[in-house]
Amino acid sequence: MVRIGIIGTGVMGAGHARFIKESVPSAQVVALFDIDTEKMAALALELGTVLVQTTDPAALMSHPDVDAVIIASPDPLHVAHLRLAISSGKPILCEKPIATTIEDARTIASEIRVYEDRIGKHLIHFGFMRRFDPAYREVRRLIETGDYGKPTFFRTITRNVASTGATTPGLFTNIAIHDFDIFRWLFKDEWVSVQSHYPRKSSISPEGIADPLVITAFMKSGIMMVADIVAFNNYGYDVRAEVVCEKGSIEIGINGDVITRANRLMGAHTGGKMEENWIPRFTQSYIEELRAWVATITTGVANPDLATVDDALAANEVCALGVASI
Ligand SMILES: NC(=O)c1ccc[n+]([C@@H]2O[C@H](COP(=O)([O-])OP(=O)(O)OC[C@H]3O[C@@H](n4cnc5c(N)ncnc54)[C@H](O)[C@@H]3O)[C@@H](O)[C@H]2O)c1
Repeated sequence: MVRIGIIGTGVMGAGHARFIKESVPSAQVVALFDIDTEKMAALALELGTVLVQTTDPAALMSHPDVDAVIIASPDPLHVAHLRLAISSGKPILCEKPIATTIEDARTIASEIRVYEDRIGKHLIHFGFMRRFDPAYREVRRLIETGDYGKPTFFRTITRNVASTGATTPGLFTNIAIHDFDIFRWLFKDEWVSVQSHYPRKSSISPEGIADPLVITAFMKSGIMMVADIVAFNNYGYDVRAEVVCEKGSIEIGINGDVITRANRLMGAHTGGKMEENWIPRFTQSYIEELRAWVATITTGVANPDLATVDDALAANEVCALGVASI
C-alpha cells in the first residue's frame, strides 16, 4: 500500500484523492495540506483514510507516514513545493506547470536534474494526464497504422466555462500547455515556433485578459498547430482536436470519442449534455495516470508515458515562445 499525501485540496487535489480511493487499490490518501482548513477537513471526512491534516507543506512532505506526494497547489506555488519535494527524497506527482515563468522553470528544472542525476532515477513526475487519455492514445495508434498517411497539421480546441484567476500568459502556461505536451508526445517531435493571435475580445471575460486566444505553432517536422483557447466560453467545457493527415482526418470529440474520415467514409460524434469542467472528460486519464505513477513506485520501473522534468521544461519552453509573441 502506497501512503499518499496531497498538497492542495482544490478541484485537482480532491479529484486525485477520489480517483485513488475509487480506482487505485494499491494506494491510500493518508495526509492532506491546505490553507483552507474547512475544505481540507471536508475532504478528509469524505475519504475516511486521512491521518494527517496540516497547514504546513513541509510537515506533509517530510511526514514519516507519507510515502509519496501529489502536488496540486496553485501554479505559482509549484516551485516552492518542488524544492520541498527534492529534500523529501519521495516520489512526487506534480501538477503542471513546473513553474509560471520560464526563468523559474529553468532554475527548478536544473535543480531537479542535479537531484535526479545524483539518485540515478526520475523521482519527480508531472501531471500531463492527456498522455493516458484513451482518445489521444487511439489517435496515436491510428496514425501509426499508416492508413491515414502523414500528419500535416492539426486543429485543437480548449474552451473552459470559466478560468478563475486566469491571466493572458496563463492561457499558455495553464491551458495551452496541455496541447504543447500532448502533441509533442504524440508526434515525438519538438516545437520550434509559436505565434499568438487575438480575435475580438469576449465581453464576458474579465478585464485584463486577452480572451479568446488563437495560437499557431510549428514543429520541427513542419507539422502545424492551430489552437483556440477560450477562458470563459459560457456554454460548457469543450475540448476537441483534429489531426489532418495526407489521406484522412482523425478527430477527438467533446466526449472523447474518436472519429475518422477516410476513403469517402465518415464517423459521427456523440452529442448530449455539456460539462462544467474538465474532470468528467478526463477522469479515465487521471485514473490511468495515477495507476501508472503508483505502479512506478511499487515496481521501481518507470512508466515511459509519465512526464519527466525534461518534458515539463519542454512544455514551459514552448509556452515561453508563446508568451513572447503576445
Ligand atoms: N492536469 C490537469 O488536467 C489539471 C487541471 C486543472 C488544474 N491543474 C493544475 O492543478 C493545480 C491545482 O488546480 P486546481 O484547479 O485544483 O486549483 P484550486 O484553486 O481548485 O485548488 C488549489 C488549492 O490549493 C490551496 N492552497 C494551498 N496553499 C495556498 C496558498 N498559499 N494560496 C492559495 N491557495 C492555496 C487552495 O486553498 C486550494 O484548495 C494547478 O497547478 C493547476 O494548473 C491541472
